[in-house]
Amino acid sequence: MSKALLIAKNLSHKFDYLLYKNVSLSINTSQSIAVMGRSGSGKSTLLHTLAGLIEPLEGSVEMLGYDLYNISESQKELLRREKTGIVFQQHYLFKGMSGRGNVEIASMLAKQNIDESIFKFLQIEKVIDQKVSKLSGGQQQRVSLARVLSKRPKLIFADEPTGNLDVESSKLVMEVLLDYVAKNRAGLLIVTHDIDIAKRCDRVYYLKEHRLIKGD
Ligand SMILES: Nc1ncnc2c1ncn2[C@@H]1O[C@H](COP(=O)(O)OP(=O)(O)OP(=O)(O)O)[C@@H](O)[C@H]1O
Ligand SMILES: [Mg+2]
Repeated sequence: MSKALLIAKNLSHKFDYLLYKNVSLSINTSQSIAVMGRSGSGKSTLLHTLAGLIEPLEGSVEMLGYDLYNISESQKELLRREKTGIVFQQHYLFKGMSGRGNVEIASMLAKQNIDESIFKFLQIEKVIDQKVSKLSGGQQQRVSLARVLSKRPKLIFADEPTGNLDVESSKLVMEVLLDYVAKNRAGLLIVTHDIDIAKRCDRVYYLKEHRLIKGD
């Protein structure tokens, strides 16, 4: 039986205007979920809230049994560092360092060893020792994914991880993510504008008219 890794209830958020309200969803073990929606609808904000980075205006997030916004900052930090992996829409790699250096830091912080095969799977093994500033956008995106996976997270939050990639590389990234989720009984939430990517997930949701609607 699958178990919930994350349970979000009645989330709402607004900045200058209402983004969404009454958003509830859960992510089970080995489950992948895609979130689609117009630019500015609040997908990144929602992803950040589910990952523990932006406190919701209303609602709760239970992550791996912890009430995420009612635990201490240090407990939350530990969960973030050791149990979750976030692929940011603007990936935050250290540009002056090599790709490998970036991956090493993340794996060290999460107390994990690097699985070198990930570089080959993502087809970045030839460029991983180059400085990040010399890599193309798509290569940086894949380094960023390698960095996240090397932490061996239980939950992955990926914000448009294929945004800079060609069709073939996008497929590859999706295969790596889904394979990781299946093998590690992890959970994945991916934000994407690409319907073909979304369809490969177990569930597709749309953030539309301030609600999260389940697709068919
Ligand atoms: N920290 C912030 N302060 C004020 N407004 C913000 C902040 N973060 C996001 N917003 C606003 O909230 C809205 C939703 O932003 P968000 O990044 O969640 O959208 P999105 O659905 O991810 O869009 P995209 O598809 O373009 O990435 C936008 O209008 C944005 O300007
Ligand atoms: Mg976004």
